Amino acid sequence: MYNIKYYLDKVSQIFAEEKFCAEPAELYDPIDYTLRLGGKRIRPTLLLAANGMFGGDESLVRDAALGIETFHNFTLLHDDLMDRSPLRRGQPTVYAKWDENTAILSGDTMFALAWRYFLRQPTPRLRDILNCFNETAIEVCEGQQYDMNFERRSDVTIDEYMMMIRKKTAVLLAGALKIGALYAGAPDGETEKLYRFGIHMGLAFQLQDDLLDGYGDTAVFGKKTGQDIRDNKKTYLPLRAMQLCNASQRQRLADFFGGKVDDEEEKVRQVLALYEEIHLKPEIEKAIAEEFAKSIRTLDEIKVDEEKKTPLREMLETLNGRKK
Ligand code: IPE
Ligand code: IPE
Ligand code: MG
Ligand code: MG
Ligand code: MG
Repeated sequence: MYNIKYYLDKVSQIFAEEKFCAEPAELYDPIDYTLRLGGKRIRPTLLLAANGMFGGDESLVRDAALGIETFHNFTLLHDDLMDRSPLRRGQPTVYAKWDENTAILSGDTMFALAWRYFLRQPTPRLRDILNCFNETAIEVCEGQQYDMNFERRSDVTIDEYMMMIRKKTAVLLAGALKIGALYAGAPDGETEKLYRFGIHMGLAFQLQDDLLDGYGDTAVFGKKTGQDIRDNKKTYLPLRAMQLCNASQRQRLADFFGGKVDDEEEKVRQVLALYEEIHLKPEIEKAIAEEFAKSIRTLDEIKVDEEKKTPLREMLETLNGRKK
């Protein structure tokens, strides 16, 4: 039976074979740069694994794998501009290496390229697949807007935060799985369970990303840590911290996340020191573990042979405790 490494290798091979360069170079070079830098390739791997779990024909999902990853990378070009993030995958981000206009236009092109990939492969359920893809894209944008809105708010609740990360991150992991299952002609009920599995996995995944922003190692994580603190992002870290703080700590935290400071690096140090004081890290790890546990329970419910679930179980294990 297949394992997750099989699908990861398959995705690497698909990307190695694909050409992203074209004219004008000013538009396509940043696209090639981004897609060649790789990253973890989680979404296309999930798409292939879901397709395999329901006995789909692997040759039919090659383009969908390219499409979903190209879309993901488009969101990163725009996200890094919105978040002012200088580093990704250990390299300068597109807006930092080229300029803002390049990040906008190469990003827009990648969204259109994603559509081209999806349209390239005829399949009986193409309409459902494209509908899933497009609804997912709309939700990601909604999530990104909430993420930006929350920077300026001081009363964001944990429920609102969970809604926001479901949209900006979890729906794309869930959508990748659903699309893979649709290509395989999986029954609707099982496809929906798979989608729910992906939502919990995606929530855990974004909680981990938020944790790594505070506690990760830039050299391993590939992104500059502390950026969420500089940006006043209302991630799970400050929101949970608020609940654990005493009155004076709460005031300090509110001041840090309330506006602009002169010395941003000093702000990052002080916020992290406050997190230490209140023993925040294990609280975040608990929330991550809970979402992973929910995703396992949902995978258990799916009606396919147990051995066919192995790649997705291995994916959860790989993600659990990730450092990048
Ligand atoms: C980054 O996604 C954006 C988030 C949803 C946190 P990944 O962590 O999957 O990024 P790459 O593709 O592996 O670089
Ligand atoms: C990313 O959230 C979500 C999307 C890109 C849609 P983040 O802003 O936390 O992702 P990173 O940390 O920059 O990768
Ligand atoms: Mg970002
Ligand atoms: Mg962001
Ligand atoms: Mg992040």
